[in-house]
Amino acid sequence: MSASKLSAAVCGQRLWQRHMEMGAIGATPRGGVNRLALTAEDAAAQATLAGWARQRGYAVTRDEIGNVYVRRAGTDATAAPVLTGSHLDSQPTGGKFDGAYGVLAGLEVLEALDDAGISTLRPVEVAAWMNEEGSRFLPGAMGSGVLAGAFTLESALARVDSQGLTVAAALAEVLSRTPLPRRELASVKPFAYLEAHIEQGPLLEANAATIGVVTGIQGIRRFVVEIAGEEAHAGTTPRANRRDAMVTAIAMISALQAATCDPEDRIRFTVGRMHVLPNSPNTIPAQVTFTIDLRHPDGVLLESLSAGIHALAAQTAALHHCSAMVQNVSVVQPVHFPAPMVGVVRRAAAAEGGKIMSFPSGAGHDAMYLHRLCPAAMVFVPCLRGISHNEAESATTADLAAGTRVLARAVLELAGHP
Ligand code: GLV
Ligand code: MN
Ligand code: MN
Repeated sequence: MSASKLSAAVCGQRLWQRHMEMGAIGATPRGGVNRLALTAEDAAAQATLAGWARQRGYAVTRDEIGNVYVRRAGTDATAAPVLTGSHLDSQPTGGKFDGAYGVLAGLEVLEALDDAGISTLRPVEVAAWMNEEGSRFLPGAMGSGVLAGAFTLESALARVDSQGLTVAAALAEVLSRTPLPRRELASVKPFAYLEAHIEQGPLLEANAATIGVVTGIQGIRRFVVEIAGEEAHAGTTPRANRRDAMVTAIAMISALQAATCDPEDRIRFTVGRMHVLPNSPNTIPAQVTFTIDLRHPDGVLLESLSAGIHALAAQTAALHHCSAMVQNVSVVQPVHFPAPMVGVVRRAAAAEGGKIMSFPSGAGHDAMYLHRLCPAAMVFVPCLRGISHNEAESATTADLAAGTRVLARAVLELAGHP
């Protein structure tokens, strides 16, 4: 009975309006957002979230790594909270929905609980995790990773961006722009975690489904490859005398692309960033550095593909009289959400009606680290043509609201009645 009341209290229009207001922070001319982690825009997004939360009387805090929490009290103050959320940082040419949806859907659940006059036994908290995207500072999912112990606070704070600025320095800037009461990481002990997100892939739309019940997250490995050659004059140096880091990088990427081209199209191989030194049109590059993002649901296969990267890089570099250093900078094992948690989401989706699909996530999410801390699960909604990490990212008011109703029911089941 109260679950139906809660579902009816979810306000699709309010949720949409909040996406538009949040999307105005760091808005790009092509309709997307550029809100890199720990920038002034990220701080402004946190301030906006905190403003909405305080209007409703929710407590807002921030932990040592910069994760922000919005808390609606339960009747048992000592009970571990049900946590939901996602992230407010974006890719440099990101969309309005990647991450923001999970945070705003969480806030909508808190407000719907209030509007429906429902108390929960457990507190319900919404988290905005710091630096999920990993665009400015590697690795991504940094805030949730520190919380879950995947990496230490100290190592995260010491990471630098392309300008050499540390996470610690950028975080201090955010703290001064948007001060919030402090929360100790050690005090964050969730009972369960739920994350709502746009699918960022084409499955739901292609199958005319409204809700994705997410069964897990595929494994992700990131590498930084540094190729060293020798600077030389572009006009005078014969082929035999060249140690061209760019030619080596191209050969290496082509070989890796071919090696990861499986007939089933399950392996995901991406080179998304490249730096060239000295980056001059008439000097043969002495150094090329590029990233590799490699993903697959099977951890054993990922391990052997990773070994293959090291071997192929060494071989190709030697062939071109260059050297190559391959660093595996992050490893996230495939995650399988616990069946009872997937069941909670599936029941909530079934109660709402509409077509449901179940599949593992191709994208990484903070849930992959929260999963280490407490039982976790996710709910997906469709996005236009499955496009994400793109300013054209789009989702409908109806789908966002439908996913939030599923999230609300799942939160209520977990948070319990007084
Ligand atoms: C997160 O955006 C990811 O890289 O999957
Ligand atoms: Mn995301
Ligand atoms: Mn993303």
